[in-house]
Amino acid sequence: MKSTRRSFLQKSAALIAASPFVPGIAQSRRAGSPADRINVALIGCNGMGFYNLQDHLKLPNVECVALCDVDESVLNRRASDLAKIASKSPKLVRDFRRIIDDKEIDVVIVGTPDHWHCLPTVYACEAGKDVYVEKPLANSIYECDVMLKASRKFNRIVQVGQQQRSGAHWQQVVELVKSGRIGRLRKIKAWGFFEYGRTSPRVPDSAAPAGVDYDLWLGPAPQRAFNTGRFHGNWRFSWDYGGGLLTDWGVHLLDIALWAVDGKMPNTVQSIGGIYAYKGNQIETADTQTVLYGYDDLHIEWEHLGGLHNGYYGRGYGVAFIGNDGTIVVNREGWELIPEVENDKPKTETISLQQADRADHIKHVTNFIESVRSRKLPICDVEIGRNSATLAHMGNIAYRTGDKLQWDQKARQFVSNSKATALITPSYRKPWKLPE
Ligand SMILES: NC(=O)c1ccc[n+]([C@@H]2O[C@H](COP(=O)([O-])OP(=O)(O)OC[C@H]3O[C@@H](n4cnc5c(N)ncnc54)[C@H](O)[C@@H]3O)[C@@H](O)[C@H]2O)c1
Repeated sequence: MKSTRRSFLQKSAALIAASPFVPGIAQSRRAGSPADRINVALIGCNGMGFYNLQDHLKLPNVECVALCDVDESVLNRRASDLAKIASKSPKLVRDFRRIIDDKEIDVVIVGTPDHWHCLPTVYACEAGKDVYVEKPLANSIYECDVMLKASRKFNRIVQVGQQQRSGAHWQQVVELVKSGRIGRLRKIKAWGFFEYGRTSPRVPDSAAPAGVDYDLWLGPAPQRAFNTGRFHGNWRFSWDYGGGLLTDWGVHLLDIALWAVDGKMPNTVQSIGGIYAYKGNQIETADTQTVLYGYDDLHIEWEHLGGLHNGYYGRGYGVAFIGNDGTIVVNREGWELIPEVENDKPKTETISLQQADRADHIKHVTNFIESVRSRKLPICDVEIGRNSATLAHMGNIAYRTGDKLQWDQKARQFVSNSKATALITPSYRKPWKLPE
C-alpha cells in the first residue's frame, strides 16, 4: 500500500503547490471497499488522545491498529477500554518511532503533552502518514512553523484539535460578526476561569513509577527529576511542557477571535500577570494573566484567573465580540447577542441564548477522516493551528519578558527584542534534534 502511496505522491508532486488538494493514496480508495479502510494509531493515550480515538472509531471503516504510550499502566488500561469498543486487538507500543516505521498505519493521533507534539507529527508526515494532533500545535512558535512546513513538504493532511472550528454555532457567530451585524468590531475579549493552580499542591520529586519510561516522557525537554506534579495532566503548569491556561484554553478561544479577523496577526503584544494566588503550589505559569494584542483599529484581549469561576457575562469562559451596535457572547454551551442602546432604542435586534448542539468534536474528527479520503485541506488545517498557537505563545513571551513586543509577521519574529526572540525557538535535549 505504501509503495502505491509513494509513487502517487511522486507523480503528483508538480501539481501540489497550486492545488487546494493534498495528494495521497487515499484519493484512489473506493469508499466502502476494504482498501478504503483507514488504520489509525494513537500516540499518548491517557486523556484527550483516547477521547479522540473513540470518536474516530465511531466512523465507518476506521480501525485502531496500535496504541503507544510511555506509561505501561496507561497503555494496558486503554487496551482494555478499547477491547470494549473494538473487535481487533491493537499492537501495544512504548516508543512512538515504532508507530512511525509501521507501514500498516495510515493515520496517527498525537495526544501527548505539548512538548511532544512536534517530533511525532513531523516524523509521521515524513513517513507518509496523516495526523490529527492536539492543540496547541506545539510548545513553541518555531516548532509550529516546522510542523506547517513538514505537512506541506510531504503533502500530508494535518488536522489540529481545535474542534470549535467544526461547531455550527461557532461558525454562525463568526459569520454574523463578519457580516457587520454588531457594527464595526472594536474589541474581542476572550477569557477562561478554570480549576488551574488551586488544586496542584507542591510535592517532592520522586522516582518515576514502575513501567514509566520517564526519559522518553521528557524527550526533547530539559533533564529534570520526576515529579507527579509535572506528570500526567499536571505538565500544563510547567514551561518545559506547556504554557498554562493561555496555551491550553486560550488557544481554543483565541482561535475564534483570529477566525473573525481572517487570521490576521497583531502588530503588538503585551501582558501582565503572575502567580498571585497559589505561590506555594506546583505552578510555573501565571495563575492570573491578561494579554493585549494590538491591531490598527481593534484589540484582542485574553484574560485568565485560575482557580476562580466567575467570568464575564455570567460565563466562566467565552469570547465576546464587542461592536459599535452590540456584543455577541459565545462559548461551548451557546451564544447570544446583546444590543447597544442609543436614545432608548436598541441598535440591533436582541438574540437570546441559542443553545449549541454539542457536536463539535465528532464533526471535527469526521471532517479529518473525510479529508484523509478526499485530500482536501481539513477545517482546522495545520496553518490555522499554527496561527492560534503562535498568538498564545506570543502572549506568554510578552509575559515572561515583561516587554511590550512588536511582531513582524512576514519574518515571524519579534522586532529588536533578543529576550523575546530567544523564546521563539526551544533547545532540544540530546539525542533529540529540532527539525529544520
Ligand atoms: N482539544 C481539546 O479540547 C483538548 C482537551 C484536553 C487536552 N487537550 C490536549 O491533548 C494533549 C494531551 O493532554 P492530556 O490532558 O490528555 O494529557 P495527559 O498527560 O493526561 O496524557 C498524555 C499522555 O501522553 C503520554 N506520553 C507522553 N510522552 C509520550 C511519548 N513520547 N510517546 C507516547 N506517549 C507519551 C503520557 O504518558 C500520557 O499518557 C495536550 O496537548 C492537551 O493540550 C486537548
